[in-house]
Formats: sequence, structure tokens, C-alpha cells
Amino acid sequence: MTSAPFSILSFLLLMPATITSRTIHIGLAGLGNVGAGVYKNLDANRDLIVQRTGADIRVKRVIVRDISRARDVEVPPDMVSSRWQDLIDDAEIEVIVELIGGTTTAYDLVCAALRAKKTVVTGNKALLAERGQELFALAEKCGVPIYFEAAVAGGIPIIQVLQEGLVGNRILSIHGIINGTCNYILTRMSQAGLSYADALREAQEKGYAEADPTLDVSGWDAAHKAIILASLSYGFWIPQECVHVEGVDKIDIADFKFAKRLGYTIKLLSVIRADEKGLVEVRTQPTLVPLSHVLASVSGSFNAVLVNGDIVGESLFYGRGAGQDPTSSSVISDLCEAAATLVYGARHSGFVPHGLYGKSKPVDDTVSHYYLRLTVADEPGVLARVATELGRRSIGISSMIQPEDLEDTSGQTSLVLMLHDAKLGDVKGALDAIRALDCVRGEPSWMRVETLQGS
Ligand code: HSE
Repeated sequence: MTSAPFSILSFLLLMPATITSRTIHIGLAGLGNVGAGVYKNLDANRDLIVQRTGADIRVKRVIVRDISRARDVEVPPDMVSSRWQDLIDDAEIEVIVELIGGTTTAYDLVCAALRAKKTVVTGNKALLAERGQELFALAEKCGVPIYFEAAVAGGIPIIQVLQEGLVGNRILSIHGIINGTCNYILTRMSQAGLSYADALREAQEKGYAEADPTLDVSGWDAAHKAIILASLSYGFWIPQECVHVEGVDKIDIADFKFAKRLGYTIKLLSVIRADEKGLVEVRTQPTLVPLSHVLASVSGSFNAVLVNGDIVGESLFYGRGAGQDPTSSSVISDLCEAAATLVYGARHSGFVPHGLYGKSKPVDDTVSHYYLRLTVADEPGVLARVATELGRRSIGISSMIQPEDLEDTSGQTSLVLMLHDAKLGDVKGALDAIRALDCVRGEPSWMRVETLQGS
């Protein structure tokens, strides 16, 4: 098997339209939001796809958990079953599209498909983030590829960007808004003043959220995607325990107001970068982003991935990060690549490990600016006591606001601090000490601040 990571499709697109087509039978596992989109859109653009790839990609069999459930698309009943092994047992099926999600049945299905020498297309970011290392090792051993464009950033072809478009670059950093549900929630809270619960309900109704939205709002869906991007960029699989993850479920409307006063908005931002020693940092958290930076204007379910390569500099990729049609566009892109490869020749397994990097930076050593909002007793000396705890850990204050308009009658007030660069471990230590001060009431609200280039 060749390890050349270049797309066979790019060569095919230059060919005259006289190529004869070969039928590629696929097995579709999952007919939910994205599965139905793949079925519908493959059919709608069939002629175009045949012309462009030389392959007529046909869904031969579909498996679903519950056969009796009503679907968005009409599939002939004799094509549908509930046993995933039916896809493996059908010798005509050359490509299996895994869109059932989760990491148990999906894992069994993908392993069985690879062992049966069937190409795999998956949008399952949790599966790849948790078990990518072993799955790609198995793919390499079996000589069949895994394609996963739909696993990250919905319709944005960011996987191909890293595998092909920027293959000659060392990746210096990636900053991504890569969860449509969270970006939708934060946008609606910030722009329309919606409560967190109402904004989440809207995102679910629009089909952006995972079947279990906890994955979205806990930050883990974005973190899984960040692990995939980091692993592609740095050539080794990042262990999940080395990723700092926080969700959007604890953000208070007050934080949007203070952030705005300070010239920022709040985004669930995934940050990936390697330091000068080659230690790789991966994190996903609500983060203050300067209002003047282009990432601040990425709204609703849109995603954006800002890649900084040593040759190309900064490149921004923007598009719909969730939803039926955008995500099915990425699955279809993988299917075309898979089909063209089956018709015209082999490519790599989907992930090329290399030895240039190989270590994750300990989470507590990651450094950034911080935003800190405290509810404190409205009495003299409070700021000095808080500053002392920060100072003990060499954490400096860059600016401070104590909004008089928010003082309440109960003798307490808000204190908002912007902190200079600090290690997460030091910030956590300072927060423990600050929480213990008798002048501090309730739980501090704190977030990272990214001072992005070009803002
Ligand atoms: N639930 C995901 C999101 C879907 O909101 O981004 C796309 O991966």
C-alpha cells in the first residue's frame, strides 16, 4: 500500500467525461439525520458524481437500530435490516459508511469491515478520538483505508486540508470553533439574550446536536474533533487525558456583558499547538476572543478553523459545522474518494504517523491569559486580598473592572479581573485560595483569553 496522501480525485477531475462508470455498492449504517442526508444527496447528485469519479455509488443495504421508526427518506424495505453483520456478509458491498455513532457497536462494525477488506467511511469523532490509534493500525494491516472528513467541522473539508493542501507545512497552531451546537447556543445567548436551556432546545430542533447533547455542551464533541486535528497535524494520537476540556453549560449571561465591556466575546474555542520543544497542547474551553478578530464573528452553527502553517501562514476555513446537508457533503466527498481509489488505485490508510512529535504537554503547564469574575463582599481590602493570592503564584493583573451598576443591596459586588499569562496549574491553585477567602461569595467564573494574531 502506498503512503502517498494525495487525492486521486484531483487527478480524475482533469480527465475527459468519456470514462465508463463502475458501480460501487455501499452499506450504510445509520439512517438518522446525517445518514438520511447521505442517502438523499447521493441520489440527487448521482449524474454529477458519476461524471466526476467514474463510479456509480449505490447504497445497497442500510442498517438501523429500529426498523419501524419513521425516516426522513424513503428506502425500499427489503434494503433495510437491523443486523450490522448484514453489511459485512454482503460480498458486493465494498464500502461501509458508519454513521451510527458511539464507541461500542460502531467499533465492532469498523473492525469487522476492515478485516473483511471493506473501505470504511465514518463521521464518528468519538470513536476516532478514543480508538483511532488501534483502528488505523488495523487499517494499515488490512490494507484498507478509513476516511473521516465528516468527523470534524461538518461540511468544511478540513481533513483534506491537513492531509493534502497543507501537507508541506509544519503546523504551528490551530484555533477552531468546531462545535455547531455550542456556537449556536453561545450566539443566541449573546445576541438574543436567550437562556442556556432555550438556546440548547433550539439547537436540538435544528438537528445540530448529538443524540446525547451532553457530548456537545460538555465540550467533549469539540475535544474529540480537536484530538483528530492535532493527531493529523503532529503524527501521533493524542491521549484524551492530556486534553483540557470544559463545556458551555456554566456560562452566565453576566460574563457576556463583562466580556463585551472588555472588548471580547465568548466562544467555545479549541486550541492546538506545539511549543518549541515539540510538546503538543490540545484544549477546548469557553474562551474570551477579541471582538476585533475574525473568529469573533463566526455565528450560529457555523464553524471556523484557523490553521497557522510555517510556510502558508494563517489560513481560515469557514462553513457550516453541523446539520444534515453540510455533514452529508463531507461523507459524500469521502465516498467519492473511496470509490475513485477502488476504481483507479490505492492510497494511504487515512493516518500517517511520523516521529517528529510524540508527547502531549501536561494540561497544568499550558499557559494563557485569563478572565476572572468574582462575587465579593463590598468592603475595603478585598481587591488586595485577591491580588495577594494571585501574586503568590506570580500571576499579574492586567486590568480590572468593578461595575457599580451591578452592585446589589446585599452588600456584595462583582469584581472582574483580566490576568496576564499564567500556567493553568497556578491559576487553579490561586482559585482554591481565593475561594477560601471569607470575602469571596459563591463560585468564581473564569475563562481563558486568547490574544489572537491579527486582532
Ligand atoms: N453535534 C455536532 C455539532 C455535529 O454540533 O457540531 C457535528 O459534528
